[in-house]
Amino acid sequence: MVHKFNPKSIKKLDDEWRRENLPPIETLKKLGLEATDSVADIGCGIGYFTISAASLIGNNNAFALDTSPEMLAEVELRSKAAGIKNIETVKTEELDLMIPDESVSFGLMVNVIHEIVDKNQFLEESSRIIKPGGRLAIIDWEKGETAMGPPVDHRIGREELTAMLREINFESQETMNFTENFYGLVFSKK
Ligand SMILES: C[S@@+](CC[C@H](N)C(=O)[O-])C[C@H]1O[C@@H](n2cnc3c(N)ncnc32)[C@H](O)[C@@H]1O
Repeated sequence: MVHKFNPKSIKKLDDEWRRENLPPIETLKKLGLEATDSVADIGCGIGYFTISAASLIGNNNAFALDTSPEMLAEVELRSKAAGIKNIETVKTEELDLMIPDESVSFGLMVNVIHEIVDKNQFLEESSRIIKPGGRLAIIDWEKGETAMGPPVDHRIGREELTAMLREINFESQETMNFTENFYGLVFSKK
């Protein structure tokens, strides 16, 4: 069972609780984003992470990928307000990220995978846009009761997700926690 984020709840994507649990710059550094990376923020929402990622990678490309035009419009507004010029917004389809093969060295996917019905296909599509030797960093809700977040049966546990990525030639590099609410997994593409 999956539950799609309601674009009407846009405010929940950048509030005090989120900034405490997932402070954007600190989170990206902990995931290993480097100044030399190019980035695809897969299911970027309002660009909460895209804008910080773009600022950390100088003039390299940051793709903001989302199926929701409302979200992408918000990314454009926010990046303009922040004076960030290296973000390209791309309206994607459910299982088509719409950018060329091997476009980026770093794929980021925060609180998205639990919303996807065909997770294997979505992860394969995410792999397609990452260069060999690149990384895919995933953050999602712990699969257990937490004060906030989607119902537990809508979530995917870290072990299940790791097994899916191993099947498609990713190697687990690091696992981490962000408060008691989220896990973070970093994989490298063989
Ligand atoms: C809970 S929000 C998280 C947004 C952002 N990653 C963040 O952490 O602030 C989930 C986002 O995933 C997007 N999304 C859902 N299914 C998607 C898909 N198949 N491809 C790309 N984006 C998708 C939604 O439109 C929404 O913006």
